[in-house]
This record gives sequence, structure tokens and C-alpha cells, in this order.
Amino acid sequence: MSQAEFVVVANRLPVDRVVDADGELSWRRSPGGLVTALEPVMKKEDGAWVGWAGGADLEVEPFEFDGTLLVPVKLSAEEIELYYEGMSNDTFWPLYHDVIAAPRYRRIWWDAYVRVNKRFAEAAAEAAAPGGTVWVQDYQLQLVPKMLREARPDLTIGYFHHIPFPAYGLYSQLPWRKQVLEGLLGADVIGFQRVADAGNFARAVRRLFHYTTKATGIAVPLENGTTRNALAKAFPISIDASSYVELAKDPKVQARALEIRQELGNPRKILLGVDRLDYTKGIRHRLKAFGELLEDGHVGVEDVTLVQVASPSRERVEAYMQLRDEIELAVGRVNGDFDTTGHTAIRYLHNSYPREEMVALFLAADVMLVTALRDGMNLVAKEYVAARIDNRGTLVLSEFAGAADELASAVRINPHDIDGMKDAIMRAIQMPPAEQGKRMRALRKKVLDSDVAKWSESFLTALADARTVKAARV
Ligand code: G6P
Repeated sequence: MSQAEFVVVANRLPVDRVVDADGELSWRRSPGGLVTALEPVMKKEDGAWVGWAGGADLEVEPFEFDGTLLVPVKLSAEEIELYYEGMSNDTFWPLYHDVIAAPRYRRIWWDAYVRVNKRFAEAAAEAAAPGGTVWVQDYQLQLVPKMLREARPDLTIGYFHHIPFPAYGLYSQLPWRKQVLEGLLGADVIGFQRVADAGNFARAVRRLFHYTTKATGIAVPLENGTTRNALAKAFPISIDASSYVELAKDPKVQARALEIRQELGNPRKILLGVDRLDYTKGIRHRLKAFGELLEDGHVGVEDVTLVQVASPSRERVEAYMQLRDEIELAVGRVNGDFDTTGHTAIRYLHNSYPREEMVALFLAADVMLVTALRDGMNLVAKEYVAARIDNRGTLVLSEFAGAADELASAVRINPHDIDGMKDAIMRAIQMPPAEQGKRMRALRKKVLDSDVAKWSESFLTALADARTVKAARV
């Protein structure tokens, strides 16, 4: 296998396996934030991507896809259960999202997490050219930076954390809190979404290891008595904004947006929620607020419709199964109470859609509801803004989503405050076009100015600087 100068390591490969009616296997670029975010970088860098191909026990040799070498990592059914569903999504995910659901700490999950991280690190070590750069992605692979550094000290290693990093009071619950910090500190640059996340990380390092942390980096002691620098800093991720603009300009997509409005019975206002079906997204809170607005008579079904796209996610993890039941019960209740033969209060779509359809939905929606209880960034908020080439529509945005740091012109809410959320929704529904335009223009400027290319560029520049410093020390 040829070695690449630039290697991305992520839990998932950027493709999904498709088996057609004749049993023929092919690969399709997967949707989803991370893939969208990294695709332009990969194309430019001519790199390799190490990740899980989905499915259990799949033996797939490295292959080229769209100019990128993809290196599949095999996971057994047991490893999927222990490393992915267990440690990644039933321990780290809830703990790092401020214990919205209770994290479970199981030693057998941790052992599998260490084992699988080792496999990813080995695959990356094999794929990277001498003196190359490796960029590790997200909480499923927090031990990889240290493992990789031990195997390949010649590499420059970056890590980006796509989800929140919690305050020390919560983080310290983790039985393996020291090992995880050591794992992350193996990177030269450790990127976070918000300044607060980077601060929480530095604080945990100070509390547990007493290392000196400064804005310029954390001094990590080496065996020879000197230190090396690990930079922990915020690099807020974004989207490929121009591709959303292009789609929004497409007459077919615009026609589809009109068609969606008609399909919904031409309500005066359409509210939209688009989320993975995840308890961090505040979908229940949103449904509660909307249900109460109907109950109070502030809105009526013939006037206002809520479209809720909830894409299936992590369906074998108990908390997600339970959430699906709760949400579907809530939707059924609201619709049962308020629907008429001609009108539905909530159109609930438990499905994923191609990007064209999403942009048509964004164009059709007067109000976008992003009510996350905790979210690393929330790219949907940025996608909605990028798609609104008409400078119309209102974004209602939770202050607990990373996007709130940048998108100051949104209508901000605390999703735990149901009355406050109801007021914000009414304000958004009634917002005069001039105010919509003023806010949307400011939001669009922000999103179009700092797109995903800027994000990766600033991270990779910090990494290149780290490499220069390292080279000067040798
Ligand atoms: C979040 C995480 C990603 C993850 C994605 C989908 O955005 O930050 O790392 O890939 O959710 O979740 P899944 O478990 O399906 O990969």
C-alpha cells in the first residue's frame, strides 16, 4: 500500500456500502457533518482516510474513492457493541453532553475501546508517509494520538474534538480520566469547537497532572526531563457554504420548496426541526413548546405546521430506543389532540434525505428551530443560514449549541425554559420581513465568511506551525 503525506483517522469512512438487487457491492459518499466538512480538504490534499466501513467483520482491502485512498478498519460484532455502542455512545457521548442521559461506566467497554483505538492507530501508522501529518477525529478515538506518537514519533499529529468537552466536575466522573487526557495530549494540536471546551480541557489537565497550561500550549513533560508543546485551542467547525448556496439557486430545488409548501397545505408559517434522533437535540422540549402554543390557542393547525425530520441514529443503544418511543408518543399526542381532517400539526419524518431535499426544506421553512440541550457545534443551523439566499427566514438557536458563539443574530433561547422558547417561537413567527432580512444578512455573512475550508485551513496551519517548531528542536 502506498503511503500518504496526509492521513485522516475517523471512526467512520466517508462512504456507505450499498448492495444492489444483484448483490453487487458499491460505495456511496455518506451524508453527515464530518464527511461534508472534510471532503474538500481530502480532495485538495490527495490523502488517505482510515475508518470503519460499517458492518461487522467486513474484510475490505484499501481502495480508491473519488481521489482518496480509503483504508477500512475491521470491527467485530462484539467490538461494535462494546467500543462503538457502549464506550463511545453510552459513556463518552452522554458524559461529554453534560449527562443529559446517564453515562454508564463499564470496564469491559473500556478494554474494547483501548483495543480498537490501538487498531486504528496501527492502521494510521501504516498509512502515513515518513514525516507525514495525521489528523485524528472525535471522541471515538481519543487514545489514538498517544498511541500513534509512540509508534511514529516522526509524525505531526492533530486531533479535533467535534463534541463538547465537559466541565471538570463532570469529566472527573470518568474512571479512565487520566488515560483519556494522556491519549489526547499525544497530539501536537488539540482542537475544540468552543473556547469554553478548550478551557475545560486545560483545566482538567491542570487538575489531574499539574502541567503548566498557557494560551500558547500545554507543556507536556518528556522522559528526558524536557517538555513538548501541545496546543489546545478552539477551531469552530463550519460547512461547505457555497454548495448550499448553489443548491438554493437551483430552479429544481426552488420548485421543490414550493411543492413542499403545497404538500403541507400552504400553511401561513412552516416551522422546521432537522436532527439526528438524539437526546442532546432537545426535540422533546421543542415538541412540548409547540404543543403548548397550540393548546394556548396562540397558533392553529390551519396556520402553522411543524416539520420535524428525525434521522435514525444509534438505534441499538437503549437511550436512543427510549427517546424514539418518547418522541413518537409526544408527536402522536399533539397530532391526536389538534389535527383536523385537513391539517396536521406535526409532520414527523423518521428518515434521512439527500442534500437537495434538505435545502428545499430549508427554503420552504419560515422558522428553523435548533433547540439542542448541548451540542458541539450544530451544522444544521449553519446549513439553514447558507441556504437562505433570499435573506428571509428566522433561526431560533439554543445557547447550548456551539454555533451560538458565532451566530449572534439568531433568536437565542434556553431550551429548558419552555415559556421562553414559546415566546421566541412566536417572535420568530411574527417577525417582520425587514427584521428577518437584517438578522439573516448578518448570519449569512458570518457563515459564508467562515466556511469549512477556513476551518481546516486554520487547523492545518496550526499543525504546520507545530511541525516547524518540532523540526527546529531536532
Ligand atoms: C456526531 C459525532 C460524529 C458522528 C456523528 C454520527 O456528529 O460528532 O463523530 O459520526 O455524530 O453518529 P454515528 O454514531 O452514526 O457515527
